Amino acid sequence: MPKLVWLNGEISPLESAVTSVADHAHLYGDGLFEGIRIYGRKVFKLDEHLVRLYHGCAYLGFEMTMALDELKATLLDVCAKADINDGYIRLNVTRGTGLGLDPKSINRSPNIMIMINTLALYSAEAYESGLHVVSTSARVIPADSLDPRVKCIGRYASNILAKTEANRVGAGEGLMLNHQGQIAECTGDNIFLIKGKKILTPHPSCGILEGVTRNTVMKLAASAGYEVEETVLTPFDVFTCDEAFLTGTAAEVIAMVTLDGKPIGNGKPGPITKHVTELFREETKTGSAF
Ligand SMILES: Cc1ncc(COP(=O)(O)O)c(C=O)c1O
Repeated sequence: MPKLVWLNGEISPLESAVTSVADHAHLYGDGLFEGIRIYGRKVFKLDEHLVRLYHGCAYLGFEMTMALDELKATLLDVCAKADINDGYIRLNVTRGTGLGLDPKSINRSPNIMIMINTLALYSAEAYESGLHVVSTSARVIPADSLDPRVKCIGRYASNILAKTEANRVGAGEGLMLNHQGQIAECTGDNIFLIKGKKILTPHPSCGILEGVTRNTVMKLAASAGYEVEETVLTPFDVFTCDEAFLTGTAAEVIAMVTLDGKPIGNGKPGPITKHVTELFREETKTGSAF
């Protein structure tokens, strides 16, 4: 049974899993999620994903009923039951069940879901020749409204808006800026620019999700001798850099070769992007076995 769902302790096939219509994420987007990859029967960077999830619970004030270690053990057990070699896990935690946005008036027992599935974000061709990206009009939600480090389900309405804008013009991804006009991220990926031997990426204060893949790539690149800097970037930096790539659990590492129809560097995936991709591929051999 490779595609299955564990929901509040019950396991069922993906097609028949159901959740309450009064779930607070269904009604208000009041939930958190993690997307996590399985490579070769190992869950990649599981601790990092769980720490981000529990930080989100603390920030939003969810009354989480499972300890991190208990959730980790349950997730690995569900992976073993799914008997899957490579796949994608969707882990959701919502505040609870009940109508009305006031948490005081609902059952504050979180609904916890582990879905074992597969996901391919971009075409095989895009991984070969790179992604064409367009700037979108949707700005990232500012940190004083909802801290972007929190992977909150409701926040994704604006990312979906940006994605549909990119889809309308046939682009592979949409770039989102913050309210200062600085580069934040794409709709489901962090962004990196390369200038000479230097690898640059927006600082978390620019309004990004601090991606697990981003942090992994930063460490791998630094260990390989590249200078890696978190900084403030604008569209000017994209048009004057040598290479660019995007990172994410679903996306993995993928070259970005144009922005708004203008080539980045020579318009092809560059040598440092290829090197970082190889380093990342090697790293995916590590993880929590099940
Ligand atoms: C908005 C956004 N930025 C960045 C990322 C990359 O984060 P991670 O590497 O943790 O998957 C994601 C992943 O879902 C995302 O949704």
